[in-house]
Amino acid sequence: MSKKALITGGAGFIGSHLTERLLKEKYKITIIDNFSSGKQENLRHLLKNPRLEIVKDDLKEPIRLQKALHGCKIVFHFAANPEVRIGETEPKTHFDENLLATFNLLESIRKEGAGKIIVFASTSTIYGEPEVMPTSEDYGPLIPISTYGASKLGCEALITSFAYTFGLRALIFRLANIVGPNSTHGVIIDFINKIRKNPKTLEILGDGTQTKSYLYITDCIDAVIYATKKFLRTKNTVEIYNVGSQDQITVKDIAKIVAKEMRVPNIKLNYTGGIDGGRGWKGDVKIMNLSIEKLRRVGWTPKYNSVEAVKLAAKSLSSTTALFNDSR
Ligand SMILES: NC(=O)c1ccc[n+]([C@@H]2O[C@H](COP(=O)([O-])OP(=O)(O)OC[C@H]3O[C@@H](n4cnc5c(N)ncnc54)[C@H](O)[C@@H]3O)[C@@H](O)[C@H]2O)c1
Repeated sequence: MSKKALITGGAGFIGSHLTERLLKEKYKITIIDNFSSGKQENLRHLLKNPRLEIVKDDLKEPIRLQKALHGCKIVFHFAANPEVRIGETEPKTHFDENLLATFNLLESIRKEGAGKIIVFASTSTIYGEPEVMPTSEDYGPLIPISTYGASKLGCEALITSFAYTFGLRALIFRLANIVGPNSTHGVIIDFINKIRKNPKTLEILGDGTQTKSYLYITDCIDAVIYATKKFLRTKNTVEIYNVGSQDQITVKDIAKIVAKEMRVPNIKLNYTGGIDGGRGWKGDVKIMNLSIEKLRRVGWTPKYNSVEAVKLAAKSLSSTTALFNDSR
């Protein structure tokens, strides 16, 4: 197996951590990123590594992608617009940034010939609101309730169809909420930004009872690397794994943890009440609990639970000096 890999979205939150880890594993890495949310500074400590090449390109209209793919046996596809909430107002964004971008990538991989492996960052939101929890990979029917979830489920379908039609192999990770340094979106960032603006009152979207599983970034990267190594030793065409922690935490408890980390433990929590029975916004899944039994069976378990993951992330993100962009 050639140790040359392409990472789409390698300048983003998860992609930058994955890049760092794969460089440690002696991979030669080419990053494709349009820097829409990705940042050069996420990679600053890696820039001197001669095994890292960064190519600015947009998967919606790729120009440099084909050349960058030469010699790469494995492609980690982590570029996307991961912001669920914008689906309410700009549903086309998820179609373009996720589905179209994935189709363009698959077409370029196909042109390189059979035998390549694509590792895809999918999401728990493809399950919609499942009746069975913890939800395992074979749960169905899959009825996403957000355009983000729909676009990611569509990406999974495109990827598996390309695998069976054009001789690729595909490893799909359905990720829970991933948190940690370099993150630019999600509930922890939202709370940090709001507390910085107003340390007296914290607005919470929804009724605060939304309950989900959170995984710390180092656990996420460990799972991806662990399962990828396993997959490389098989001949399977498609493999799918949930990646999450084994417990859940409410939005209300996340608010308390972030407030404590930012030394405003007595801040007033102000719930918007939300819509459709306390959701933060249309498309917000209220309860998410992934079964990670499949990954456990092959030998991986997370180091941190949801509370520990949120605490670690709140600590590192709240000590970052720059204000984050609210729009993501
Ligand atoms: N963070 C999570 O909790 C979470 C959960 C489930 C799934 N995921 C998935 O994991 C992946 C990484 O998410 P993240 O949280 O690191 O997000 P992120 O926004 O930090 O990273 C996405 C990266 O993709 C790049 N990108 C976006 N559109 C592009 C395009 N058209 N062409 C080239 N580059 C483009 C961005 O610049 C950014 O660097 C995404 O596919 C996301 O859907 C994330």
